[in-house]
Amino acid sequence: MESKLLTEFYHLDEFRGIEGYKKNGGYVELAKALKMQPQQIIDEVKASGLRGRGGAGFPTGTKWSFLPKNGEPRYLLCNADEGEPGTFKDRLMMERAPHQLIEGMIISAFAIGSKKSYIYVRGEYHYPISVLEKAIREAYDAGLLGKNILGSGFDHDMDVYSGAGAYICGEETGMISSLEGAKGQPKLKPPFPAVQGYLRKPTIVNNVETLAAVKYIIRDGAAAYRKHGTEKSPGTKLFSLSGNVMKPGNYEVPLAYPLIDLINKEGGGMKPGRKLKAVIPGGSSAPVMTAAEVEKATLDYECLAGMGTMLGSGAVIVIDDSQCMVDMLGVLTHFYHHESCGQCTPCREGTGWLNKIVHSILEGKGRLQDIELLEKVADNMKGRTICALSDAAALPVLSFVSKFRDEFEFYVREGRSKVKGTTYAEMHH
Ligand SMILES: Cc1cc2nc3c(=O)[nH]c(=O)nc-3n(C[C@H](O)[C@H](O)[C@H](O)COP(=O)(O)O)c2cc1C
Ligand code: SF4
Repeated sequence: MESKLLTEFYHLDEFRGIEGYKKNGGYVELAKALKMQPQQIIDEVKASGLRGRGGAGFPTGTKWSFLPKNGEPRYLLCNADEGEPGTFKDRLMMERAPHQLIEGMIISAFAIGSKKSYIYVRGEYHYPISVLEKAIREAYDAGLLGKNILGSGFDHDMDVYSGAGAYICGEETGMISSLEGAKGQPKLKPPFPAVQGYLRKPTIVNNVETLAAVKYIIRDGAAAYRKHGTEKSPGTKLFSLSGNVMKPGNYEVPLAYPLIDLINKEGGGMKPGRKLKAVIPGGSSAPVMTAAEVEKATLDYECLAGMGTMLGSGAVIVIDDSQCMVDMLGVLTHFYHHESCGQCTPCREGTGWLNKIVHSILEGKGRLQDIELLEKVADNMKGRTICALSDAAALPVLSFVSKFRDEFEFYVREGRSKVKGTTYAEMHH
C-alpha cells in the first residue's frame, strides 16, 4: 500500500501556493468536513487512532473530547516550536505544504468549535514563518478563512506567532504562557489546557504533523488510515534522520517500519568503512539504543517503549563507531542545563550537576565514583517536576552510562576518549 500520505506532493514546487495545492486535492476535505457534524469529525479522528506527533503520542481524538461541552470560546494552538534536538520535519511541512497544515487546522478547529487559532513557530524559522503568512493571506482571499467559510456559517481566524527562542516554549503550557506574553514557563497540570489554557480558556495544543494528518483521515476515512501502521500505532509518520548516515533527511514511512531499514534503505546506510554503534530514536530526550537493539526495533510507540526508549518526535540520530559517547553526552547535558527554565529544584540543580560531572570527566578530572553519581543525580530528577524536561534530561544520561559504561570508565582512568584516543581539548580544537 502507498505509504506516502503527507508528503506525496512535496516534490512539487506548486504545492506551496494555493492554486497548486488545490490542483492536487487541496481544500477538498475542508469542503467535505464543513458538511459533517463536528462530533462526526471527532469520532472519525478517534476511530483512526491518530496519536499526537509532538512527542508523547497521546490519542488526538481523546484529547479533543476533554474539551468542555458548553459553548465557551476555545482556542486551537499548533505547536510548531520544533525544539527537540534532531527534529526538523515540521519545518519541511511548513515550507513545502503550508496549506496542508492550514486545511488540517481549519477542519480541526471546526470539529472542536474554535473560532481562533495560532501557529506558534520556532523563532529561528524565519522562512517557514514567511511561507505560512503568505499562505494564510491566500486562504483569506479565497474565503477559506474569516467569516462564513465556504458558505458554511463557520467563522475562523488564524495567526502565526514567532516563538520566543527557548526549548521550553515547545512544552504546551510553556507555549501558552509565551503566547500570552509572559515568560515561557510551564504550569502544573491539572488543569490541562483542554480545560483551562490560553487566556484561561479551553485550548487544544497539537503538533504540526498531527493537525496536517487530520485531512487524510477525512479524505480516506478512519478504517483506511488504519491500514497504515499497527493497531496501536496507526498511520504514517515523518522521521527526521540525521547523524552518520549517507542520506540524512525527512522520510515518511508507515509506523512500525523497521528502524534498520530506515537507516539502510531510506538513509543509504553508514558512511564507507563505518559501523553502526548506536541510535537515538526519538529526539535527544529518548534513551539511546545499541546497534544490536536497533536490528530488532520497529518504529512504533509500543516497540520502542518496550525496549526502554521512545518514538518521541521521530528524530532518529544515527551514531557510528567513530563517535565518543562521553563527548556526545556532554553536548546533551549542556543543552538541557541551558534550557531548564529553573522553576523546579530537581531540574534546575540536577541539569547543572549532570553537566558539571560529565564535563569534569571530559576534562580529565573525573573519578570512577562520578559515574555512579551521574546515575544517582539523574534518578533523583525523574517524575518530580512540573514538566517533562527534567526526565528528558535524566533519561539519556542513564542510558548512555549503562550501555556504554566502558567508554566512561576508560575516560576516567586515562583522561582521554577510548574511541578518539584524544583529550577533550584535542577533540575540540
Ligand atoms: C520540554 C518539552 C519540549 C517540547 N517541545 C515540543 C515541540 O517543540 N513541538 C511539539 O509539537 N511538542 C513539543 N512538546 C510536547 C508538547 O508539550 C505537547 O505534548 C504537544 O505539542 C501536543 O501535541 P500532539 O498531541 O499533537 O503531540 C514538548 C514537551 C516538552 C516537555
Ligand atoms: S522541569 Fe525544568 S523546565 Fe520543566 S518547569 Fe521544572 S524547571 Fe522548568
